[in-house]
Amino acid sequence: MPASVVIGTQWGDEGKGKVVDLLAADADVVVRFHGGNNAGHTLVVDGEKTVLNLIPAGVLHPGRICMLGPGMVIDPEVLVAEIDALRARGYLADDRWLRVSEQAHLILPYHRAIDHARERLRGAGKIGTTGRGIGPAYEDKVARTGIRVADLFDDDGFREALERNVREKNGYLEALLGERPLSFAELYARCLAYRERLRPFVADTVREVQAALAAGRRVLLEGAQATMLDVDHGTYPFVTSSNAVAGAAAAGAGVPPRALGRIVGIAKAYTTRVGAGPFPTELTDALGERLRADGEEYGATTGRPRRCGWFDAVVVRHAVALSGVDGLALTKLDVLTGVDPLPVCVAYEADGRRLAGLPATTRGWGRVRPVYETLPGWHEPLGAARTLAELPANARRYVERLADLAGAPLLLLSVGAQRDQTIRLGAVF
Ligand code: GDP
Ligand code: IMO
Ligand code: MG
Repeated sequence: MPASVVIGTQWGDEGKGKVVDLLAADADVVVRFHGGNNAGHTLVVDGEKTVLNLIPAGVLHPGRICMLGPGMVIDPEVLVAEIDALRARGYLADDRWLRVSEQAHLILPYHRAIDHARERLRGAGKIGTTGRGIGPAYEDKVARTGIRVADLFDDDGFREALERNVREKNGYLEALLGERPLSFAELYARCLAYRERLRPFVADTVREVQAALAAGRRVLLEGAQATMLDVDHGTYPFVTSSNAVAGAAAAGAGVPPRALGRIVGIAKAYTTRVGAGPFPTELTDALGERLRADGEEYGATTGRPRRCGWFDAVVVRHAVALSGVDGLALTKLDVLTGVDPLPVCVAYEADGRRLAGLPATTRGWGRVRPVYETLPGWHEPLGAARTLAELPANARRYVERLADLAGAPLLLLSVGAQRDQTIRLGAVF
């Protein structure tokens, strides 16, 4: 049985958490393959809300194996707190249900300090990062100076690497960023405490996920962020520091590309973005505020208001092509009730000409003018619909047109935050 992959097709917060939680009912193993606690994945089950930053969204199903894959960057302090919060609510009853890759990189306090200080120095030109140290941690990984989960358990090697990194980072923080240095002794002691807390979960997840696949288990690979935040394919430099496209799922989880089966792309029925950067269909007027209010569009991780706008089919089509999306899960359709008419961006123009592809520079993005097609809206609430036939005709027409423009069939429609507020249209495994 090949592994199914879930990715975001816009700028994040499409509802990946809700969809992965739902699909995890039919999975044995769920693996997060990249990113860190910049992600905030929200699950609402029986009216109770859970926000996950690191642990895969299968964790509310007892017995699911949840893996933090080698492609992730993990802040041990955040992971320990997340484990404790879930345990306090009765989840993760068995240590064996959580596996943390020994190959994943650690986010340490100096990464957070650098992230914050750089954003402050960038002033108006800031990226609007989540401030979680994601970029600086991936920089160390690529520079081959990073510290991995396994290194925590190598006493002398760990101490040496941490000493070297603290010395270097303190030099950078003090001399170039005007920040206070960090204490090695304090950080070292904290790391030793995290090591003991994490010890039961640390594993060779690559071997374990491959064994699960070989045994015919159902594996779900959970993406974070989204295509337009992908470091190569997004609106660079207003992106995150990892690859979020389906192609990254194989490397980030440690499975062969041939082991990937269905690719599920999650798209919101409109568009949001949190942080700075290009957003052609953004609404800066009362309609944008209405979407923010009705959709409760505030960051799950940072609480920042999300920028809102019309559905951008150019963006989702780009994501479908890059990841080979087999089916779309379209979320938050219920939020559009009463918004009538509904413009949808079908193409980009710049300097009076249609663009064949996406701009490669921020200046190029600044020239983009969306070309809209306008669809009729609907006024009925959708939260109780469980079949396509129960949707108003205009809502059906809207989702069918979106799928058509995006170039992928509909697999699932979400009409509310609750797990069961879902219309299933196709198989995922
Ligand atoms: P993720 O990062 O992709 O997992 O998405 P987030 O959890 O950051 O943001 C999605 C938000 O929308 C969460 O608050 C979800 O509970 C909520 N949500 C998901 N699907 C729906 C839906 O169909 N309708 C409504 N109204 N809310 C939804
Ligand atoms: P989920 O998984 C939305 C954005 C930040 C910022 C940029 C870089 O919940 O969809 P970073 O801290 O990664 O260096 O920030 O990326 N960003 C997200 N936006 N959802 C996310 O995750 C995001 N993760 C990062 O706002 O613009
Ligand atoms: Mg989110």
